[in-house]
Amino acid sequence: MSALLDISGLRIELGGRALVDGVDITVGPGEVVGLAGESGSGKTLTALTALGFVPHGAAASGQVRFDGRDVLALSAGELRRLRGDRVAVVFQDPMTSLHPMLTIERQLTEHQRVHRAMTRRQARERAVELLDRVRIPDPHLAVRSYPHRFSGGMRQRIAIASALACEPELLIADEVTTALDVTVQAGILRLLEDLRRESGMAMLFITHDLAVMNVVSDRLYVMRDGRVVESGPSRDVLADPQHAYTRALVEALPDTEGAR
Ligand SMILES: Nc1ncnc2c1ncn2[C@@H]1O[C@H](COP(=O)(O)OP(=O)(O)OP(=O)(O)O)[C@@H](O)[C@H]1O
Ligand SMILES: [Mg+2]
Repeated sequence: MSALLDISGLRIELGGRALVDGVDITVGPGEVVGLAGESGSGKTLTALTALGFVPHGAAASGQVRFDGRDVLALSAGELRRLRGDRVAVVFQDPMTSLHPMLTIERQLTEHQRVHRAMTRRQARERAVELLDRVRIPDPHLAVRSYPHRFSGGMRQRIAIASALACEPELLIADEVTTALDVTVQAGILRLLEDLRRESGMAMLFITHDLAVMNVVSDRLYVMRDGRVVESGPSRDVLADPQHAYTRALVEALPDTEGAR
């Protein structure tokens, strides 16, 4: 199986310091891959290169291929198409992707209305359908509302719906459950699992919380200080961590989670 996303020997340097140093990560079509590691280990920086994002002033070397194409060499126009059509990202705080002053309908369909010449009515139907996919109750009412009306968990569902609008082949979920209560978290994880089954899209699931990895990912990479220190099938890594750092993370898990 050739990889959908193939990151190899990635190095991101800023001010003489390597923030990411020699990272190799692959995500196959339809595969869910976890990227774990403590805060500052380079997870977000690594993942965002899939969209061609590199921090201002930083230099990225190595290779990032999406569907065989060298992402770090794409033109601005090609990057826009990649971001609008094939790879989408959802962040920890849904308000970073949701605009407080726009109705849910506009946020979910603005891009499509421009790119696919949708009528007003088609846009509304599409928005309702997207909200339905992320299990927002009463989507006909919800499309006419503004983000502040919703709870954190519901906003995160809407942010996910917005990412799904372009039917991406790869969804990057960056700490999407971190800010939520445990029960709400579980609901979002179930939703992602369902969406993956329904759509067949691949996911790169980023978290500093190893406990959720067993639930969501087929394979797992553990990063520390800008490097991948361990990788393999999630079940194996969590059941029998080889690296001292991963072992410490696994041992720190609450018993009920670690034993799953
Ligand atoms: N735009 C930036 N400019 C400068 N340094 C940055 C930038 N973004 C991240 N860094 C630095 O790069 C390192 C890795 O950051 P990154 O955000 O990838 O970590 P992370 O693993 O995603 O952490 P977290 O779990 O807190 O989200 C950190 O030391 C961070 O301070
Ligand atoms: Mg991060």
